[in-house]
Amino acid sequence: MSFSIKDKVALITGANRGIGRSIVESFLKHGARKVYAGVRDINTTNDLKATYGDRFVGLHLDLAKPETITDLAKAAPDVQVVVNNAGVLAMASALSDNAEQALRYELEINTFGLLRIARAFTPILENNGPGAFVQLNSVASIKNFKDLTTYSASKAATYSITQGLKEELAEKGISVLSVHPGPIATDMAITGGMMDIAEPSSIVAEGIVSHLNEGKFHLFPDTMAKEFETAYASFAENIIEAVG
Ligand SMILES: NC(=O)c1ccc[n+]([C@@H]2O[C@H](COP(=O)([O-])OP(=O)(O)OC[C@H]3O[C@@H](n4cnc5c(N)ncnc54)[C@H](OP(=O)(O)O)[C@@H]3O)[C@@H](O)[C@H]2O)c1
Repeated sequence: MSFSIKDKVALITGANRGIGRSIVESFLKHGARKVYAGVRDINTTNDLKATYGDRFVGLHLDLAKPETITDLAKAAPDVQVVVNNAGVLAMASALSDNAEQALRYELEINTFGLLRIARAFTPILENNGPGAFVQLNSVASIKNFKDLTTYSASKAATYSITQGLKEELAEKGISVLSVHPGPIATDMAITGGMMDIAEPSSIVAEGIVSHLNEGKFHLFPDTMAKEFETAYASFAENIIEAVG
């Protein structure tokens, strides 16, 4: 299903910095009517509010606190496209001392966060349809990176849930887009020690706009991601994207 951002109302989680901030800017550039930013500290979006005025609305969201997700859904009943972008990386290999703690944290924010956002906003997207749901997954959803083992596991789980959502939401007229960046130049890339090969966050944001337009399910936006796309293409097309 093709979905144009023009004149739409969007919600983007983790929109104060990194990839989320770029998505705000791209959506507004491509004519979104209004963008809600779900953020932990609304003051971190003051400059966006000053630039975009009424087209930008900061709302409180902490994915670790499920009640803030319910409140967010009540505050944004006109949303037509949700981008679940907020995520965390706690560096841990399988044998690290912090592996269990890291995995619990990453599952809580990245994976349970996705479930909670999808459950809270599906009725709203269905009501305001046709809608769209975008999930920030990763190349690490498909291949485990040793020093990011627990993060990769959480992102593999979010990718699996995204596939389930694709089928379940199609019945409700809602398109789903699964986004799989490689290293992107944000604070997360600094934490992961990937800045030397990282690419700008704008390519992820612009890719989301164009792939929603084209009605695609997978987006592999950057150079490393495109290498994954090439190797993965047959499995993606014949197994993941195949109907039923
Ligand atoms: N950068 C990469 O190389 C890369 C590659 C593949 C996929 N991704 C994915 O892309 C998404 C965005 O990543 P990024 O690189 O932009 O990360 P980032 O620069 O570290 O920004 C993370 C965002 O998530 C928010 N966040 C963290 N914990 C939260 C919570 N409990 N509740 C609500 N918001 C929370 C942060 O808000 P605060 O400012 O309040 O902390 C921030 O806005 C993530 O899902 C990430 O896994 C990133």
